[in-house]
Amino acid sequence: MSFPTTRLRRLRRTPALRSAFAETRLHPAQFVLPLFVREGGPEHPTPIASMPGVSQHTTTTVVDVAAEAVTAGIGGVILFGIPATKDAVGSSGWDPSGPVPTATRAIRDRVGDDLVVWADVCQCEYTDHGHCGPLGGVGPGGSSADDQLVRNDEAVEGYVRDALAYAAAGVDLVAPSGMMDGQVAAIRAGLDEAGHERVGVVAYAAKYASAFYGPFRDAAGSSMSGGDRASHQMDPGNRREARLELDLDAAEGADVLMVKPALAYLDVLAEARARFDQPLAAYQVSGEYAMLAAAAERGWLDGDRAMHEAVTAIVRAGADQVLTYAALPLARALQG
Ligand code: PBG
Repeated sequence: MSFPTTRLRRLRRTPALRSAFAETRLHPAQFVLPLFVREGGPEHPTPIASMPGVSQHTTTTVVDVAAEAVTAGIGGVILFGIPATKDAVGSSGWDPSGPVPTATRAIRDRVGDDLVVWADVCQCEYTDHGHCGPLGGVGPGGSSADDQLVRNDEAVEGYVRDALAYAAAGVDLVAPSGMMDGQVAAIRAGLDEAGHERVGVVAYAAKYASAFYGPFRDAAGSSMSGGDRASHQMDPGNRREARLELDLDAAEGADVLMVKPALAYLDVLAEARARFDQPLAAYQVSGEYAMLAAAAERGWLDGDRAMHEAVTAIVRAGADQVLTYAALPLARALQG
């Protein structure tokens, strides 16, 4: 059959027809809202200039946002901590009274299990140099001396300590984002040994060294004193290597696999959907959010529609969960 017998416009004629045959629908439970929790500083939320509508929270105000997320039907929140003190190894990351454990306990007190609580696990917010773990001397192969390289195995030891502190505080999921080799297996083993077998691991499996993280580094106070993350995050042009990363993290016991950033990596996400039966997450990162917010502020596009379209595309490509800074407005619009 072909034109004029076949007319694909028939099913697009009215809103009711279009809705009936829609292939991809958004639901608030698909969204995960990233939250920045600050220890110390002013007792009120502080707006992040490069991310209109997003603020750093105190360990008290973050609880109100978590409660709003529950009301809006949002699936989860992912916590990022901004500590009062930093050092060369990032030891404030595993302090049981640090920002993430404190916020987790307070959120649980208010909303119980009604919200899935994720904790990002990385040292970059907790080190004074802004890198994802201790620096220096030993490269990933164990030999090349370079004082700007993160020491893989020592960084992983820190991630395990972070994960244990967050699990003890009551998170559902820990999400190691540092792209160190072996981090998922080490965290899984550490959690199980400590009796936290119920806590899941979301692997930032295919995480690229992306310019789209720019605004996040303001938001999280994790700008680097020098160097970059190219010796551990992936080269944006690499697609086969993403399969290797995803395969390894699945084999290491990840409960959920993530692709990050999202919109510029939909091919990677779609391929992961075809290849894995594990749930997939995709992170619409700070720069993806900031681009749309900035263009909308200038009146250059309809920000709400563009955001809805971008997140729809991420779900269409295969994401079960989308980490998005627009989770609250998106969810409220869907609630009507
Ligand atoms: C590392 C981490 C980063 C992001 C999430 N976890 C920054 C980085 O890898 O440099 C970026 C998220 C975003 O840009 O929204 N802890």
